[in-house]
Amino acid sequence: MSLGDRQVVIAPETKADASARAPVERSLIGEHPTVVKLRTLVERVAATDATVLITGESGTGKEVVARTTHSLSARRNRAFVPVNCAAIPHELLESEMFGHERGAFTGAAGPRHGLFSTADGGTIFLDEIGEMPLQLQAKLLRVLEDGIVRPVGSDRASKIDARVIAASNSDLAAGVKKGSFREDLFYRLQVVPIAIAPLRERRSDIPLLVEYFLERMHARLPGRHWTVSQAAMVSLWSYDWPGNVRELENMVERLVIMCEGDVIDAALLPPGIVATTRASENHVPATLEEGGVNLNAMVRELEGRMINEALRQTGGNKQAAARLLGLKRTTFSAKLRRCGVIAPAGSNWNDES
Ligand SMILES: Nc1ncnc2c1ncn2[C@@H]1O[C@H](COP(=O)(O)OP(=O)(O)OP(=O)(O)O)[C@@H](O)[C@H]1O
Ligand SMILES: [Mg+2]
Repeated sequence: MSLGDRQVVIAPETKADASARAPVERSLIGEHPTVVKLRTLVERVAATDATVLITGESGTGKEVVARTTHSLSARRNRAFVPVNCAAIPHELLESEMFGHERGAFTGAAGPRHGLFSTADGGTIFLDEIGEMPLQLQAKLLRVLEDGIVRPVGSDRASKIDARVIAASNSDLAAGVKKGSFREDLFYRLQVVPIAIAPLRERRSDIPLLVEYFLERMHARLPGRHWTVSQAAMVSLWSYDWPGNVRELENMVERLVIMCEGDVIDAALLPPGIVATTRASENHVPATLEEGGVNLNAMVRELEGRMINEALRQTGGNKQAAARLLGLKRTTFSAKLRRCGVIAPAGSNWNDES
């Protein structure tokens, strides 16, 4: 490649480069296409100082994404400062973020640095940003515009270089419509928007995540190893996980504690999880509803459901799943890819199983 008269040589990746990239695979587990894309995006934004807005339901991994972005960035050796905007009382949030002067308000006995100062040179993670009061949103917008922070009750202002990553599990666009979130701040935050899919939309990652959490439990309790029976995995796959990855993580921990031997069986699962396995079995109506139906969408939905079901019943064995559906192996694989149900590499859900 030539840039004017200078030659730019792109060197092949060294082992050191590869190991510097390793954390993204180790901390953000998943092989579903949406997670693979997410990792690529995280790696790309980590190389910049752009403001990022991460959205996703509770427990989908917003903080994992924020921390991974920081740890892959040039700021990795400086502070990562999480601020939960919902947990700090509104009247204290401004001074927590920007600091305050002595006597700025009742109880402010001495001057104090804010979390933005702590994050100078590093990253500040503004979690649950939708809960930030409107008046403070205006101040944050100014800080994002010029990087200048003014402590409460002070006329001294200082320049701070903190990379801002924000997250929300509520619909900020709806907040803008309702008037509870500033539109200008909304656009300023989402220079790079990162949306994380709920776990029920990437079920093929469930076995991989279970394996990952079991390995972590093994590291905490060396000498013990667990496997999950096929019947239990069938139920874990089918459940909708409203609490997403966090709920799955807690469930694995609970199952390990309850498990007496080394096989986690379906009998250990709480009734709620086993019940959804049965409830999910027949959704597509057999009668033509008033006003008609979208047949193509229904057929696609049925196909996806049957593929999931066949994989569940066979513990992820694609050959057996194809046989159950009366499909050729290649047709089954093509349908799998179309439905976004892709077996994680390196697991026993792979092509050879
Ligand atoms: N892709 C993933 N790989 C490994 N662990 C994950 C992944 N996603 C989430 N987790 C784990 O799930 C738990 C919840 O993740 P995290 O705290 O990042 O979610 P969140 O979206 O910030 O949730 P909340 O909205 O409730 O704050 C954490 O313990 C985290 O380690
Ligand atoms: Mg969080």
